[in-house]
Amino acid sequence: MGERIFLSSPHMSDEGYEMAYVKEAFDTNWIAPLGNNVNMFEKELAEKVGAKAGAALSSGTAAIHLALKAAGVSDGDVVFCSTLTFSATANPIIYQNAIPVFIDSDYKTWNMCPKALEEAFEKYPEVKAVIVVHLYGLSADIDSIVELCKKHNVALIEDAAESLGTYYKGKHTGTFGDYGIFSFNGNKIITTSGGGMLVSDQEGRIEKARFWATQSRDQARHYEHSELGFNYRMSNVVAGIGRGQLKILDERVEKKRYIYKYYKKALSELDSIEFMPENEWDKPNYWLSAITLTG
Ligand SMILES: Cc1ncc(COP(=O)(O)O)c(C=O)c1O
Repeated sequence: MGERIFLSSPHMSDEGYEMAYVKEAFDTNWIAPLGNNVNMFEKELAEKVGAKAGAALSSGTAAIHLALKAAGVSDGDVVFCSTLTFSATANPIIYQNAIPVFIDSDYKTWNMCPKALEEAFEKYPEVKAVIVVHLYGLSADIDSIVELCKKHNVALIEDAAESLGTYYKGKHTGTFGDYGIFSFNGNKIITTSGGGMLVSDQEGRIEKARFWATQSRDQARHYEHSELGFNYRMSNVVAGIGRGQLKILDERVEKKRYIYKYYKKALSELDSIEFMPENEWDKPNYWLSAITLTG
């Protein structure tokens, strides 16, 4: 058996940034789902992508779930969702007892087709939210999608789980819609072993997401919960890994872009495969150098 090649394995910094922050958590005994690393990771990631605020959570899936809740999605609501994606994009729609309606991709972006979305708005005018995915680090045609969501006054959630570090017209994916989500799962461009972040320019909604993520514990001297809550907060130890990884995000993106170009050059002679595109507005992180078989 040859050497096993992992899909996208974790890659800690050579400088040991992650370990220094993890050590800080140990030294201060903040081994909890709160603490300085959590606060700082939220601040640093939001600053990095250009969002007003972020909530550090236990996974990207949790972030999608809370985004749907913040968008007011509940029983029987229709939610439009990119069809070419990982199941974690769609699962939280079901957690909210809502109904996913899948929107096809276009050839140009491999992501949600604005034309198909427009048709879906005509068919389901009662739709409550849209989840658009930037798959494999490649941006969807986000301007067109934002415009349609604004026209129909429907909340837009960007699943940027795979696209941290990807730019669309010079702006980070995940910051165009009402809510953006990122994943730090072990296979992502940067990782915390497991974790996610919900970002938004609506700081009040992020504050509310943090509340739901900590079991919706009311501000009372005793344990009181007047809303349904979840245990979705990120651990302070894990957030330390995230802070360290964030320092080398740009390096990782450049490396992935190099690998993509290397494969493309080496395999471009083959008629039967086509590489994921790079559009005029894009600077993808090429988290995966995905191909499609045409022959
Ligand atoms: C497109 C997409 N959406 C959502 C998720 C869910 O993220 P997590 O694994 O952090 O829950 C992932 C990754 O796992 C993903 O690739």
